[in-house]
Amino acid sequence: PTIFRQDYTPYPYRLPQVRLEFDLAAESTQVRSELRFEPAPGTAPGTPLVLQGEDLELVEVRLDGRPLAADEYQLTDDTLSLVPPGHGKPFSIGIVSLCHPAVNTTLMGLYVSGDKLFTQCEAQGFRRITWFPDRPDVMARFEVLLRADPAVYPLLLSNGNLIEQAGLPDGRHQALWRDPHPKPCYLFALVAGDFDCIERTETTRSGREVLLQVYSDKGCREQTRWALDCLARALHWDERRFGLELDLDRFMVVAARDFNMGAMENKGLNIFNAAYVLADPDTATDAAYRGIEAVIGHEYFHNWTGNRVTCRDWFQLSLKEGLTVFRDQEFSADMLAEGLPPAEAASARAVKRIDDVHTLRLAQFPEDAGPMAHPIRPDSYQEIGNFYTATVYEKGAEVIRMQHTLLGEDGFRAGMDEYFRRYDGQAVTCDDFVDAMESVYVQRHPGKDFSIFRRWYQQAGTPRVRVRSHYDPENRTCRITLEQRCAPAGLEARQTPPPQKPPLHIPFAIGLIDADGRSLPIHWEDETRDTVVLELREASQTWTLTDIPRPPVLSLLRDFSAPVILETDRTADDLALLARHDPDPFARWDAVQETAHRHLQACMQADRDGNPQPALDDLLEIWRTALIDPTLSPAYRARLLALPALREVIDRGDPMDPRAAVAAWTRTRQTLGAQLADAWRTLYDAMADDGGPYSPDPVSSGRRALRNLALDNLLAGQASGAAELALAQYRQARNMTEGLGALTALLQHAPQDASGPLADFHERWRDDPLVLDRWFGAQASAPGCTVSGVRALMALPDFSLRNPNRARAVVFRFCMDNPGNLHTLEGYDFWAEQVLALDALNPEIAARLSRAFDNWARYEPVARAGMQAALQRVLDAPGLSRNVREIVSKALGA
Ligand code: ARG
Ligand code: ZN
Repeated sequence: PTIFRQDYTPYPYRLPQVRLEFDLAAESTQVRSELRFEPAPGTAPGTPLVLQGEDLELVEVRLDGRPLAADEYQLTDDTLSLVPPGHGKPFSIGIVSLCHPAVNTTLMGLYVSGDKLFTQCEAQGFRRITWFPDRPDVMARFEVLLRADPAVYPLLLSNGNLIEQAGLPDGRHQALWRDPHPKPCYLFALVAGDFDCIERTETTRSGREVLLQVYSDKGCREQTRWALDCLARALHWDERRFGLELDLDRFMVVAARDFNMGAMENKGLNIFNAAYVLADPDTATDAAYRGIEAVIGHEYFHNWTGNRVTCRDWFQLSLKEGLTVFRDQEFSADMLAEGLPPAEAASARAVKRIDDVHTLRLAQFPEDAGPMAHPIRPDSYQEIGNFYTATVYEKGAEVIRMQHTLLGEDGFRAGMDEYFRRYDGQAVTCDDFVDAMESVYVQRHPGKDFSIFRRWYQQAGTPRVRVRSHYDPENRTCRITLEQRCAPAGLEARQTPPPQKPPLHIPFAIGLIDADGRSLPIHWEDETRDTVVLELREASQTWTLTDIPRPPVLSLLRDFSAPVILETDRTADDLALLARHDPDPFARWDAVQETAHRHLQACMQADRDGNPQPALDDLLEIWRTALIDPTLSPAYRARLLALPALREVIDRGDPMDPRAAVAAWTRTRQTLGAQLADAWRTLYDAMADDGGPYSPDPVSSGRRALRNLALDNLLAGQASGAAELALAQYRQARNMTEGLGALTALLQHAPQDASGPLADFHERWRDDPLVLDRWFGAQASAPGCTVSGVRALMALPDFSLRNPNRARAVVFRFCMDNPGNLHTLEGYDFWAEQVLALDALNPEIAARLSRAFDNWARYEPVARAGMQAALQRVLDAPGLSRNVREIVSKALGA
C-alpha cells in the first residue's frame, strides 16, 4: 500500500493532554494511557477516532471512564477505532495494553538493550507502545509515570521535568515526569536501568541555569566527557549563530548499545547510539571524536528545528532533517575554524566541506540515479522508515545551504528568525519554511523571484550543468554559458509520459585564474570580486564578464555551491593548474579528484581495449607538489592526497564493472605509493606525534590523518620496510587513531603481517563492543576477506546479528566496502541470505542492507544477472517485511 503526500488530511481530533503509566518489566510491560481528546473545529459528530497500534495486547478500553464492550470499538492488525460521543465536547479515552520489550528485536517502540529499557519512536514506533494517533501533527502535553523494580531499574527517565520520585508499598519505585512542551508522540522517550552519569550546569544567554547530563553504562563515565563538552559547545553555538536558547531546565543524553541509527532527538531526553557518545584516546579515533561532535550537535539543534517547529506529516521529513544537518555541518565547521586566522580558518572549513561533499557523492548521487530516487520532499512511500535517506538528509542540507548562499548569512538568519516567528509550536511543511525564506529574499532582492527555487523540493535526480566559455582577447571579455538538464531519475524512466523536469534555480559559484595561477578579479554588480555566484534559472543562460585582461581558466562550482554534476571541457592542463593554484580550497581539491577519476577510467578503458596502462604523470606531479607543500594544513593535504573512494570509481563506470575498478584502483594506489615512496617516508616522519597529551583538535588530528595516509601509501607501494613501520606504529600507538591506522593498512596491503596485531587487538579489546566493531570492520572490508572469510567472522562467539553496530561492522562493511569479494556468485548469495536473516529480526536494518544492489541494472552483464537473481530470491521469500519489500520491488522495477 502506497501513501501519497497529496492525500494529507488533518486529524479530526485534538489531544491537548496525555497521561501514561508504565509498569515496566522486560518480559511484559503494561501501559495505561489516558487521552484527553476534543473534536477539531469543523469535525462532524460521529467522525470515528482512529488510533494506531502494532504488536500490542489490549486489556481494556474506556470512554470517559466507562469500560467499553467489544462491540463498541473496532480492532484491526494496526488500528483501534471507535465513535466518540457526538456532543462536541472533550472526552477521554483510557486504554490498558501490554507490550513485550524483551522479544522486540526491531528496536522500534519499547525494547531491551543489555539489561536496560529504551524507546525509539520516530517515525512510527510509538504505536508499538500503546494505541495512539501516531502522526506528527497531533501534539500533546505528556505526563508520564514510570514504575519498576529499583534493583533492576534504579533510574527511570522520561521527557521534561522530574516532578516526584517515591518508593511503593510493593517494593517497586516510581518516577513522575512532566514535559511542559506539547509534542508529537515520535518525540516521546523513556529509559530505565542502571547508569553512570556525568553532568554540568551551563548558563544560557538569558541567564538561566540549565542542567546537562550524559548517561552511559556503568564503568563508562570517563568516556562521556567529550560528549558532554560537545553538548555545552552546541548549546552556546546555537545561541551565538542562530539566537536560539535551550527551552528546558534539564537536557539528558543517554547512550544505548543497541540502536538502529545514529541518535534520536526526543524532547529533553536524547537517546544515542553509544558509538556517538563514548570516546577516549585509547578507544576512539579522531574521526569518531568529530562524529560525536556532529551527532551531539545535530540532536541538540533538533530541539528548535524539529521539536519546537515540527513536521506536519512524514513527507516533510527534510524540513527538520535537511535543516538540522545543515546546522550541524556549520557547527562542525565553526568548531574546526575556531581561533584560526582567516586563511587557515577557510582551509579548516573547507576540510569539513570536502568531507560532506564526499559523503553526498558517495551515498546520495547513486541514490538519486537509482530506483529509490525521490525528491527531498517525497511524493509517496510504502514504508517511511525507508526514507531516512541521504537524499532527505544530505541533499536536503544542500538545498538549505543554497538558500543560505542566495540570501547570505544575514539574510538566512533573518529568514530563520521569521520561520520561528511564524511557526513556533506548530507542525508545518517544507513550503512553510521556504515561505519564510522567500519573504526575506524578495524584500532584499526587489524584482527577483524565488518561486523556481521550490523545484528543488519537487524534483528527484542530480542535475548536470554543462559549462562552456569563450574568451575574446580583443574585447577582453569572457562569455560563460551554463546549461542544465536532469535525466529521468530511477523509476521515472519507466513512466509514460516521462515526468516534466523544468529547470532549477542553481547558484553556481565561479572564479577565474590566469595561466600563472593568479586570481583574475571579476567586475560584478558594481564591485570587484574573486568569486561570483551566477544564478542559473533557465535551461541555458550566458553571462559576459568584462575587463578580463588575460585568457582565464575557470574555477567552477566553488565551495560546491549546488548539488550538481559538472560537465566541462576542461583539459588535463586546466585541471593541473587548478589543482596547484585554485584559491578556493574546495575547487582545488575537486580538480585533483577529477584528475584522478579521469586517470582511473582511462586505466579501465585501456584494460578493456587490451592497451598498455596510461601514464600517471599528471596526478603524480600534482601529488608530488602537494605532498611537500608546507602552506597546506595537514588535514587539507590528507584530503588532496586521497584517491576517490572505490565505490565512486565503480559508480562512474558505464557499465559499472566492480572487478575492473578494483584492479585499476589497486594498481593506481600501488604506483602512487611506489613512485612517491621517498616523499611519503619523509612525510611519515615529519608527521610524527610530538609526544604531548592526546587532543582531537584539527591540527593534531590532521597530522595523524596525513601520517596514516603516508603509511598506507608506503604499504600500497610495497616500499621496503613498510610492514615493519606499520608493525612498529601498531606497537607504539599512543591512541586508537594510530593503532587502528596501522592495523587497517596492514590488512589492506600486507595481510600476512597482520595476524600478530589482530590477535593482540582482540585480546586487548574483546570486552569493549565499540572497539571490537573496529576489529571486525577492518577485517570485513579488507581485500583478503572473501565470503568464507566474512562467514568465519560471523561464526565467532563475539558476533551477533541482533546488535546493529556489529551487523554493520561485519555484514554491511563486507557488502558496502568490499566490492571485489561481494561481486561474486557466493557474494550475491551471502547478501540475499543476510537480508532475509536480518529481516526476521529488524526490518529497518534489513532494508538498509537491501539497498546495496539498488543500481544492479547499470552493471556489466555477469554482475547484473547475479544481483538480479539475488534480488528476486529476496522478493520471493515468504513473510518479507514492508520495509524490504519496498526496496527490493522498486529495485526490480516491479
Ligand atoms: N531523527 C533522528 C535523527 O536524525 C533519526 C531517527 C530515525 N529513526 C528511525 N528509526 N528511522 O537524528
Ligand atoms: Zn535528525
